[in-house]
Amino acid sequence: MQAFSPSGAARAPQRFHPLMIGMHWLTLALLLAVYVLIEFRGAFPKGSVGRDTMRLWHEMLGLTVLGLVFVRLALRAVLPAPEPLVAPRWQQRFARLMHVALYVFLIATPILGWLMLSAKGKAVPWFGFDLPSLVGPDRALGRRFESMHEAIATLGYLLIGVHAAAAIGHHYLLRDDTLRRMLPWRRLDAPSKAPLVTENGHEPA
Ligand code: HEM
Ligand code: HEM
Repeated sequence: MQAFSPSGAARAPQRFHPLMIGMHWLTLALLLAVYVLIEFRGAFPKGSVGRDTMRLWHEMLGLTVLGLVFVRLALRAVLPAPEPLVAPRWQQRFARLMHVALYVFLIATPILGWLMLSAKGKAVPWFGFDLPSLVGPDRALGRRFESMHEAIATLGYLLIGVHAAAAIGHHYLLRDDTLRRMLPWRRLDAPSKAPLVTENGHEPA
Protein backbone atom coordinates (compact mmCIF):
# COMPACT_ATOMS: atom_id res chain seq x y z
CA MET A 1 0.00 0.00 0.00
CA GLN A 2 1.25 3.49 -0.81
CA ALA A 3 2.31 5.52 2.27
CA PHE A 4 1.23 9.19 2.68
CA SER A 5 2.87 11.98 4.62
CA PRO A 6 0.82 14.11 7.05
CA SER A 7 0.65 16.86 4.38
CA GLY A 8 -1.16 14.38 2.14
CA ALA A 9 1.68 14.12 -0.38
CA ALA A 10 2.48 10.56 -1.53
CA ARG A 11 5.63 9.22 0.19
CA ALA A 12 8.14 7.03 -1.59
CA PRO A 13 8.02 3.35 -0.51
CA GLN A 14 10.57 2.17 2.05
CA ARG A 15 11.79 -0.79 0.02
CA PHE A 16 12.14 -1.86 -3.61
CA HIS A 17 8.97 -3.00 -5.38
CA PRO A 18 8.47 -6.80 -5.12
CA LEU A 19 8.85 -7.08 -8.90
CA MET A 20 12.22 -5.28 -8.77
CA ILE A 21 13.28 -7.50 -5.86
CA GLY A 22 12.24 -10.60 -7.82
CA MET A 23 14.10 -9.46 -10.93
CA HIS A 24 17.23 -8.65 -8.90
CA TRP A 25 17.53 -12.10 -7.31
CA LEU A 26 16.42 -13.93 -10.47
CA THR A 27 19.22 -12.16 -12.37
CA LEU A 28 21.71 -13.22 -9.70
CA ALA A 29 20.57 -16.86 -9.98
CA LEU A 30 20.79 -16.79 -13.79
CA LEU A 31 24.23 -15.18 -13.74
CA LEU A 32 25.46 -17.79 -11.31
CA ALA A 33 24.35 -20.53 -13.73
CA VAL A 34 25.80 -18.65 -16.75
CA TYR A 35 29.23 -18.37 -15.07
CA VAL A 36 29.27 -21.89 -13.62
CA LEU A 37 28.29 -23.45 -16.97
CA ILE A 38 31.14 -21.80 -18.85
CA GLU A 39 33.83 -21.93 -16.15
CA PHE A 40 33.34 -25.67 -15.61
CA ARG A 41 33.07 -26.62 -19.28
CA GLY A 42 36.56 -28.10 -18.92
CA ALA A 43 34.94 -31.01 -17.03
CA PHE A 44 34.13 -32.41 -20.48
CA PRO A 45 36.59 -32.92 -23.37
CA LYS A 46 36.45 -30.55 -26.38
CA GLY A 47 33.82 -31.53 -28.95
CA SER A 48 31.90 -33.72 -26.46
CA VAL A 49 28.11 -33.52 -26.10
CA GLY A 50 28.50 -32.52 -22.43
CA ARG A 51 30.70 -29.53 -23.25
CA ASP A 52 28.48 -28.42 -26.14
CA THR A 53 25.41 -28.66 -23.90
CA MET A 54 27.07 -26.52 -21.25
CA ARG A 55 27.96 -23.87 -23.84
CA LEU A 56 24.42 -23.99 -25.31
CA TRP A 57 22.87 -23.38 -21.87
CA HIS A 58 25.45 -20.67 -21.19
CA GLU A 59 24.33 -18.90 -24.34
CA MET A 60 20.58 -19.38 -23.82
CA LEU A 61 20.62 -18.28 -20.17
CA GLY A 62 22.93 -15.37 -21.06
CA LEU A 63 20.41 -14.21 -23.67
CA THR A 64 17.66 -14.57 -21.05
CA VAL A 65 19.62 -12.21 -18.79
CA LEU A 66 19.68 -9.73 -21.68
CA GLY A 67 15.90 -9.93 -22.19
CA LEU A 68 15.25 -9.58 -18.44
CA VAL A 69 17.42 -6.51 -18.05
CA PHE A 70 15.22 -4.59 -20.50
CA VAL A 71 12.07 -5.71 -18.66
CA ARG A 72 13.76 -4.66 -15.42
CA LEU A 73 14.72 -1.22 -16.75
CA ALA A 74 11.15 -0.70 -18.04
CA LEU A 75 9.74 -1.67 -14.62
CA ARG A 76 12.26 0.60 -12.93
CA ALA A 77 11.00 3.51 -15.02
CA VAL A 78 7.35 3.02 -14.03
CA LEU A 79 7.47 1.64 -10.47
CA PRO A 80 7.93 4.04 -7.54
CA ALA A 81 11.57 4.18 -6.39
CA PRO A 82 12.29 3.60 -2.69
CA GLU A 83 13.16 6.55 -0.45
CA PRO A 84 16.82 7.57 -0.78
CA LEU A 85 18.82 6.10 2.11
CA VAL A 86 20.43 8.37 4.65
CA ALA A 87 24.11 8.07 3.74
CA PRO A 88 27.13 10.25 2.99
CA ARG A 89 26.98 11.80 -0.45
CA TRP A 90 30.10 9.98 -1.69
CA GLN A 91 28.46 6.66 -0.82
CA GLN A 92 25.29 7.56 -2.69
CA ARG A 93 27.31 8.62 -5.74
CA PHE A 94 29.46 5.47 -5.63
CA ALA A 95 26.38 3.23 -5.27
CA ARG A 96 24.69 4.95 -8.23
CA LEU A 97 27.86 4.58 -10.34
CA MET A 98 28.06 0.88 -9.43
CA HIS A 99 24.40 0.35 -10.38
CA VAL A 100 24.94 2.02 -13.78
CA ALA A 101 28.07 -0.13 -14.31
CA LEU A 102 26.13 -3.29 -13.39
CA TYR A 103 23.34 -2.45 -15.85
CA VAL A 104 25.95 -1.76 -18.58
CA PHE A 105 27.60 -5.10 -17.77
CA LEU A 106 24.22 -6.92 -17.93
CA ILE A 107 23.56 -5.49 -21.41
CA ALA A 108 27.05 -5.45 -22.95
CA THR A 109 28.21 -8.97 -21.98
CA PRO A 110 25.40 -10.97 -23.66
CA ILE A 111 25.32 -8.63 -26.67
CA LEU A 112 29.06 -9.25 -27.17
CA GLY A 113 28.38 -12.99 -26.92
CA TRP A 114 25.65 -12.65 -29.54
CA LEU A 115 27.97 -10.56 -31.77
CA MET A 116 30.74 -13.14 -31.31
CA LEU A 117 28.56 -16.03 -32.51
CA SER A 118 27.21 -13.91 -35.41
CA ALA A 119 30.69 -12.90 -36.61
CA LYS A 120 31.87 -16.51 -36.35
CA GLY A 121 28.94 -17.50 -38.59
CA LYS A 122 27.42 -19.69 -35.85
CA ALA A 123 23.73 -20.07 -34.93
CA VAL A 124 22.41 -18.06 -31.99
CA PRO A 125 19.97 -20.45 -30.28
CA TRP A 126 17.41 -19.48 -27.66
CA PHE A 127 15.11 -22.28 -26.42
CA GLY A 128 14.24 -23.60 -29.87
CA PHE A 129 14.42 -20.24 -31.68
CA ASP A 130 17.27 -19.12 -33.91
CA LEU A 131 17.99 -15.46 -33.22
CA PRO A 132 19.13 -13.34 -36.17
CA SER A 133 22.82 -12.63 -36.81
CA LEU A 134 23.81 -9.13 -35.75
CA VAL A 135 26.79 -8.92 -38.18
CA GLY A 136 28.00 -10.81 -41.24
CA PRO A 137 30.66 -13.56 -40.93
CA ASP A 138 34.15 -12.17 -40.20
CA ARG A 139 36.58 -14.41 -38.29
CA ALA A 140 38.90 -11.60 -37.13
CA LEU A 141 35.94 -9.60 -35.86
CA GLY A 142 34.63 -12.73 -34.16
CA ARG A 143 37.91 -13.12 -32.27
CA ARG A 144 37.80 -9.46 -31.26
CA PHE A 145 34.24 -9.83 -29.92
CA GLU A 146 35.37 -12.97 -28.08
CA SER A 147 38.16 -11.19 -26.22
CA MET A 148 35.84 -8.28 -25.42
CA HIS A 149 33.19 -10.73 -24.14
CA GLU A 150 35.74 -12.47 -21.95
CA ALA A 151 37.24 -9.22 -20.66
CA ILE A 152 33.91 -7.69 -19.64
CA ALA A 153 32.72 -11.01 -18.17
CA THR A 154 35.89 -11.07 -16.03
CA LEU A 155 35.31 -7.45 -14.99
CA GLY A 156 31.81 -8.60 -13.99
CA TYR A 157 33.31 -10.68 -11.17
CA LEU A 158 34.88 -7.53 -9.75
CA LEU A 159 31.75 -5.39 -10.15
CA ILE A 160 29.48 -8.00 -8.58
CA GLY A 161 32.01 -8.72 -5.83
CA VAL A 162 32.36 -5.05 -4.83
CA HIS A 163 28.58 -4.52 -5.06
CA ALA A 164 27.74 -7.59 -2.94
CA ALA A 165 30.50 -6.78 -0.42
CA ALA A 166 29.11 -3.23 -0.06
CA ALA A 167 25.59 -4.58 0.56
CA ILE A 168 26.86 -7.07 3.14
CA GLY A 169 29.05 -4.41 4.77
CA HIS A 170 26.01 -2.12 5.11
CA HIS A 171 24.07 -4.96 6.72
CA TYR A 172 26.64 -6.28 9.20
CA LEU A 173 28.91 -3.27 9.85
CA LEU A 174 26.74 -0.16 9.39
CA ARG A 175 23.63 -2.17 10.35
CA ASP A 176 21.37 -0.10 8.11
CA ASP A 177 18.46 -1.10 5.85
CA THR A 178 20.34 -1.21 2.52
CA LEU A 179 20.16 -5.00 2.14
CA ARG A 180 16.77 -5.38 3.86
CA ARG A 181 15.20 -3.05 1.25
CA MET A 182 16.14 -5.65 -1.37
CA LEU A 183 14.77 -8.58 0.69
CA PRO A 184 10.98 -8.98 0.65
CA TRP A 185 10.63 -10.67 4.04
CA ARG A 186 12.77 -8.54 6.36
CA ARG A 187 11.40 -5.77 8.61
CA LEU A 188 12.91 -2.33 8.09
CA ASP A 189 13.72 -1.11 11.55
CA ALA A 190 17.46 -0.89 12.10
CA PRO A 191 18.81 2.60 12.81
CA SER A 192 21.58 3.66 10.43
CA LYS A 193 25.11 4.04 11.83
CA ALA A 194 26.17 5.96 8.75
CA PRO A 195 26.76 9.72 9.21
CA LEU A 196 23.41 11.50 8.99
CA VAL A 197 23.60 13.40 5.73
CA THR A 198 20.81 13.26 3.16
CA GLU A 199 21.12 13.22 -0.60
CA ASN A 200 21.39 16.99 -0.89
CA GLY A 201 24.06 17.11 1.80
CA HIS A 202 21.88 18.51 4.65
CA GLU A 203 21.38 16.90 8.04
CA PRO A 204 17.85 15.48 8.22
CA ALA A 205 15.46 17.29 10.58
C1 HEM B 1 25.48 -12.10 -18.76
C2 HEM B 1 25.78 -12.95 -19.70
C3 HEM B 1 27.11 -13.63 -19.91
C4 HEM B 1 28.20 -13.78 -19.11
C5 HEM B 1 28.40 -13.25 -17.70
C6 HEM B 1 29.18 -14.55 -19.84
C7 HEM B 1 30.43 -14.92 -19.35
C8 HEM B 1 31.34 -15.69 -20.04
C9 HEM B 1 32.59 -16.16 -19.51
C10 HEM B 1 33.12 -15.89 -18.10
C11 HEM B 1 33.21 -16.87 -20.48
C12 HEM B 1 34.54 -17.62 -20.37
C13 HEM B 1 35.67 -16.74 -20.69
C14 HEM B 1 36.99 -17.44 -20.53
O1 HEM B 1 37.08 -18.66 -20.67
O2 HEM B 1 37.94 -16.72 -20.26
C15 HEM B 1 32.36 -16.87 -21.64
C16 HEM B 1 32.64 -17.51 -22.82
C17 HEM B 1 31.76 -17.60 -23.87
N1 HEM B 1 30.53 -17.03 -23.97
FE1 HEM B 1 29.59 -15.95 -22.53
N2 HEM B 1 28.66 -14.85 -21.07
C18 HEM B 1 27.40 -14.33 -21.15
C19 HEM B 1 26.53 -14.41 -22.21
C20 HEM B 1 26.81 -15.05 -23.41
C21 HEM B 1 25.91 -15.09 -24.55
C22 HEM B 1 24.52 -14.44 -24.59
C23 HEM B 1 26.54 -15.80 -25.51
C24 HEM B 1 26.06 -16.15 -26.89
C25 HEM B 1 24.84 -15.95 -27.34
C26 HEM B 1 27.82 -16.22 -24.99
C27 HEM B 1 28.74 -16.98 -25.67
C28 HEM B 1 29.97 -17.36 -25.17
C29 HEM B 1 30.89 -18.21 -25.90
C30 HEM B 1 30.67 -18.80 -27.30
C31 HEM B 1 32.03 -18.37 -25.09
C32 HEM B 1 33.30 -19.16 -25.42
C33 HEM B 1 33.04 -20.57 -25.01
C34 HEM B 1 34.18 -21.51 -25.30
O3 HEM B 1 35.30 -21.08 -25.53
O4 HEM B 1 33.91 -22.72 -25.24
N3 HEM B 1 27.95 -15.72 -23.71
N4 HEM B 1 31.23 -16.14 -21.34
C1 HEM C 1 25.04 -11.57 -3.27
C2 HEM C 1 24.89 -10.75 -4.26
C3 HEM C 1 24.14 -9.43 -4.21
C4 HEM C 1 23.71 -8.69 -3.15
C5 HEM C 1 23.88 -8.99 -1.66
C6 HEM C 1 23.05 -7.52 -3.69
C7 HEM C 1 22.45 -6.52 -2.96
C8 HEM C 1 21.83 -5.40 -3.47
C9 HEM C 1 21.17 -4.39 -2.69
C10 HEM C 1 21.07 -4.40 -1.18
C11 HEM C 1 20.71 -3.45 -3.53
C12 HEM C 1 19.99 -2.13 -3.17
C13 HEM C 1 21.01 -1.02 -3.14
C14 HEM C 1 20.43 0.34 -2.79
O1 HEM C 1 19.34 0.45 -2.27
O2 HEM C 1 21.14 1.33 -3.07
C15 HEM C 1 21.05 -3.85 -4.87
C16 HEM C 1 20.76 -3.14 -6.00
C17 HEM C 1 21.18 -3.49 -7.26
N1 HEM C 1 21.84 -4.65 -7.60
FE1 HEM C 1 22.45 -6.11 -6.33
N2 HEM C 1 23.13 -7.57 -5.06
C18 HEM C 1 23.77 -8.72 -5.42
C19 HEM C 1 24.03 -9.15 -6.69
C20 HEM C 1 23.77 -8.42 -7.82
C21 HEM C 1 24.08 -8.86 -9.16
C22 HEM C 1 24.71 -10.21 -9.53
C23 HEM C 1 23.69 -7.86 -9.99
C24 HEM C 1 23.80 -7.80 -11.49
C25 HEM C 1 24.90 -8.04 -12.15
C26 HEM C 1 23.14 -6.79 -9.19
C27 HEM C 1 22.66 -5.61 -9.68
C28 HEM C 1 22.06 -4.63 -8.94
C29 HEM C 1 21.54 -3.39 -9.50
C30 HEM C 1 21.61 -2.97 -10.97
C31 HEM C 1 20.99 -2.68 -8.44
C32 HEM C 1 20.30 -1.32 -8.52
C33 HEM C 1 18.82 -1.53 -8.56
C34 HEM C 1 18.10 -0.31 -9.09
O3 HEM C 1 18.10 0.72 -8.41
O4 HEM C 1 17.56 -0.41 -10.21
N3 HEM C 1 23.19 -7.18 -7.87
N4 HEM C 1 21.73 -5.06 -4.81
